Formats: sequence, structure tokens, C-alpha cells
Amino acid sequence: MNLTIEGYVARVNAQLDKTLPLAEGPAERLLSAMRYSVLNGGKRLRPLLCFAAADAIAEANHHTEIAAASVEMIHAYSLIHDDLPAMDDDDLRRGKPSCHIQFDEATAILAGDALQAMAFEQLATMRDIPPVEQVELIRLLANHSGSSGMVAGQAIDLAATGESLTLDQLKFMHTHKTGALIETSVLMGAVATTKATAAQLKALSRFARAIGLAFQIQDDILDVESSTAQLGKQQGSDAAKGKPTYIALLGLDDARAQVDELYKESIACLELFGDRAEPLRYIAGFIVNRAY
Ligand code: IPE
Ligand code: IPE
Ligand code: MG
Ligand code: MG
Ligand code: MG
Repeated sequence: MNLTIEGYVARVNAQLDKTLPLAEGPAERLLSAMRYSVLNGGKRLRPLLCFAAADAIAEANHHTEIAAASVEMIHAYSLIHDDLPAMDDDDLRRGKPSCHIQFDEATAILAGDALQAMAFEQLATMRDIPPVEQVELIRLLANHSGSSGMVAGQAIDLAATGESLTLDQLKFMHTHKTGALIETSVLMGAVATTKATAAQLKALSRFARAIGLAFQIQDDILDVESSTAQLGKQQGSDAAKGKPTYIALLGLDDARAQVDELYKESIACLELFGDRAEPLRYIAGFIVNRAY
């Protein structure tokens, strides 16, 4: 399985590297910031889900590589903007200076803008894919990344800072700010094969919603664990910023139990794919057991 996963990572990295323009010419600083933010590490979980969903249906192909790279560009843009002073004001990303620290705020805003546009350009210039599927890929990414998905979740996150949310409101925020892009990764992987049935898409969507919520709860748990265990602080950075989290609402133990329950729920959704869903099962396991 490790070889399969390494293969997915290598394929999306190669696609990203060749798609992002070289940092040269009049817009060199902008292009440098884009390459810096996309190519400076990252687990590539969304691309992995895209490839694994494709393999659950047919076989991942070049269209999968483009879809996976597009989702990762949207993810990278969301992180650049998430770290800005007006949002989470984080100086570090993946252990390195955030884009606006390494470059400057205006360049970081523009790098995010340009990555977003590039993601859609890549989908629109795909060749040899029926227009129905191509337009559906563009629609999925637009819908899940914009004001019905990730951006809505980010807006709620900012509005909720310093406030207390009910569990339902918190779940709504998490499923939008993080879950939406995870769901679209899985669905785009399936749609790009052009062979997905309605029943398969429904099962994949249910799988992705469960594992997407588990992913953000685990992100919140890791925020507490890394701050308290490694840095010796009393609380995590989310708590210090007044961010509502599952841990703040339920405590660490119940938050961990939620992750476990959602993992089991996600695995149950994969039954109809049999062995073809092994990569998806493996990635789901990684998401809930990850330590970074
Ligand atoms: C971090 O996502 C931001 C959230 C959406 C919670 P990842 O943990 O997938 O970030 P990288 O890309 O691996 O750094
Ligand atoms: C980020 O959530 C979600 C998006 C970027 C869409 P967080 O703010 O919790 O992510 P980290 O903890 O900074 O990576
Ligand atoms: Mg944030
Ligand atoms: Mg943040
Ligand atoms: Mg976080």
C-alpha cells in the first residue's frame, strides 16, 4: 500500500511542478510565492483521496492528476489566506515561515488569488474528457470551495472566534471549512474517470463527509497536543485565539471518541467497492491516526 500512496504523491507533485510557472520574469515574486506555498511540503491528502477514489471506480489516469493538482492548488491558496494577519495571523506553516512572512502580505494575497484561478484553468484545459464530466469537475470545485463550502466555513470560523457555538453549529463550520474540499477531492477523482455510477458517487460522498469531519476534529486535537506536549503550553493555539473546537466543547476524550466513530462510519460506506477501496481505507486510517 505504501507504494501505491507514494505513487499518488509522486504523480501529483510532478503535475504541480510542471504546471506552476517557473519563478522568473516580471511577476517573479508572485510566481516564487506560489511555488513556495505549493511545493514546500504538505501531506497531499486531498490529491491522495482524489487518486484513491478514481482507483475505487476504474483506474486513475492523467485527468486524475489534473483534478488532484487543482484541488491542491485551492488548498494551498486557502492556507496562504488562512495564515494572513486578518485571519489566523500565523507566522508558521508546515514549520516554515508563512507565505506573508517569507514574502509580504500583498504578495501572499495575490499568490492565493492566482492559485485559485490556475486551479480552474487546469480543469478547463483538460483534453479528451467529455464536456459533461469536465463541466461537472469545474462545478464541483467551485461549489465546494466557494460561498457554499470552504469560504463559508472560513467566514463562520472568523465570526465565531471568541464566541461559543453549539455542537451543531461547530459541525456546520467544520464540514464547510475543511469537509467540503475533502468531499470534492473524492468526488472529482470519481467523476474524472467518467465511469462513476450514481450509487458509487453517493457512497463516496457519505464516506468523504464522515472522514472530512474526522479530519478537522483531528486537526483540532493535534493543535492541543502539539502545543501542550511539545511546547509545554497550557493550551493550544486555537484556544489561545478563542476558536471554537470539539475539544473546547466536549473535551479531548470525547473528541477522540468522535474521530473514532466517524472513521468507522466512513469505512462502512466503502463496502460496495470491495478491494478496490483499499487505498481509500488506508488514507482514512492515516487521517485519524496522523500525528501531524
Ligand atoms: C491543514 O490541512 C489545514 C486544514 C484544513 C485543517 P492539512 O493538514 O491537509 O495541511 P498540509 O497540506 O498537509 O500541510
Ligand atoms: C484551516 O483551518 C481551514 C482552511 C484553510 C480552509 P485551520 O485554521 O484550523 O488550519 P490550520 O490549523 O491553520 O492548519
Ligand atoms: Mg483557520
Ligand atoms: Mg489556521
Ligand atoms: Mg487548525
